[in-house]
Amino acid sequence: MNYSRILGVGSYVPPNVWTNQDLGRLMETSDEWIQQRTGIRQRHWVDLNSETCSSDLAVPAAEKALKAAGVRKEEIDLIIFATLSPDHEFPGTGCFFQEKLGVPGIPALDIRQQCTGFLYGLSIADQFIKTGMYKKILLVGAEVHSKGLERTTHGRDVAVLFGDGAGAAVIGVGEEPRIPKASQIFSTHLHADGRFAKELWVPEPGNAHSGDRLTPERLKDGGHFPKMNGKTVFMHAVKKMPEVLIESLKANEVRLEDVDLFVFHQANLRINEMVAQQLGIPAEKIFNTIDRFGNTTAATIPIGLDEAIQAGKLKPGMLVATAAFGSGFTWASALFRW
Ligand code: UT7
Repeated sequence: MNYSRILGVGSYVPPNVWTNQDLGRLMETSDEWIQQRTGIRQRHWVDLNSETCSSDLAVPAAEKALKAAGVRKEEIDLIIFATLSPDHEFPGTGCFFQEKLGVPGIPALDIRQQCTGFLYGLSIADQFIKTGMYKKILLVGAEVHSKGLERTTHGRDVAVLFGDGAGAAVIGVGEEPRIPKASQIFSTHLHADGRFAKELWVPEPGNAHSGDRLTPERLKDGGHFPKMNGKTVFMHAVKKMPEVLIESLKANEVRLEDVDLFVFHQANLRINEMVAQQLGIPAEKIFNTIDRFGNTTAATIPIGLDEAIQAGKLKPGMLVATAAFGSGFTWASALFRW
C-alpha cells in the first residue's frame, strides 16, 4: 500500500475587498456587530458585474499549487473539485475548470460537501493514492458566494459571513514511514447527519417540490438564497469539531500537544476559539484567516495552509491537524505531517 501526502498548495482570492463598513452601504449592519460576532473584518468578492465564477478562481490557485509541488499539469491523473457555488447546475464545475486549466481527458469529480468539501476531497484523494490507482491528484476548493448571497438587510445574517476564494492542493505518494518525520497523510475522518440538512441550505431550484424545479413565485420569495439557523449551526460546530479532532488523534495514538499546527475551517472565529478553549490548544498553534477572507467554505483549509506557509508558520516535518463543520450537517478531520 502507498502512503499519500500533500505535495503543494496554492490559493487565490479576487482583488476586490469588501470591508464591513462597505457592507453597511448594502444593508443595516455594522463593523462592530460583524467583528464581535464573527471576527471578520473584510472579505474578497468578485466583481459582481463580471462573469467570474468558481472555476476561474480555481485556475490560479491550482497553478500555484502545481508550482509549489513541482508537478506539471500534464502529470495530474484526477481532478477533485469541491464547491457549493458551482458555475452552473450541471455539468460539474470540475469539467469547466479542467477546460480552463487545459488538461483534457483526465477524470473530473465534483463533490458537494460544503464546508467540509476539502476534507472529504482529501479523503477521496488519499484512498486513490493508497490503492495505487492514481499517482497525482489535484484537489480544489473554490467558491464564488457573493453572487448567490441576499445582499440586503433581510439576508444580512448570512451575507456578512461569506467570501469568495479558491485553494488547491496536489496530493501524491507520501514518504516511507520508516523515514523520521515522513511527510504523509495519517488519516481522515468523515461524518454527516442529514437530519440537520435544512439548518443551512439553499432550497431552490429543487425537485423536492411539486411542479417545476423553479417557479417565478419561489424565485420572488428568495428560495434561491442560503437559509441558515445560525445558533443551531454554531452549537453543533463547537461540539462536533473537537469530537472529530480527538477521533483523529486517538486513531493515530497522537497526543494533542504533539500537534504543531491546527488549521481549522473558518466559519466564525468564536467557533475556533471555543474549540481551542475546550481542548486547551494554545492560541499560537492555531492559524486563522477569517478576519481577512471571511468564510470561503470549501477553500478555507487550503487557503489557510497556503497562508500559513507564506507567514512562516507551516514548515516541513510539522504535524498538522485540521477539522471542519458545516452544512449537511457534515464534519470531518485530517491529520498529516507536512
Ligand atoms: O461554515 C458553517 C456555516 N456557518 C456557521 O458556522 C455559522 C454559525 N453561526 C454563527 O456564526 C452565528 O450564529 C451568527 C454570526 C450567524 C449570528 O450570531 P448570533 O449571535 O447567533 O446572532 P443572532 O442570529 O441571534 O442575531 C442577533 C441579532 C438579531 O437581532 P434581534 O432579533 O436580537 O433584534 C439579528 O437580527 O443580530 C441581528 N443580526 C445582525 N445585526 C447586524 C443578524 N445579522 C446581523 C448583521 N448585522 N449582519
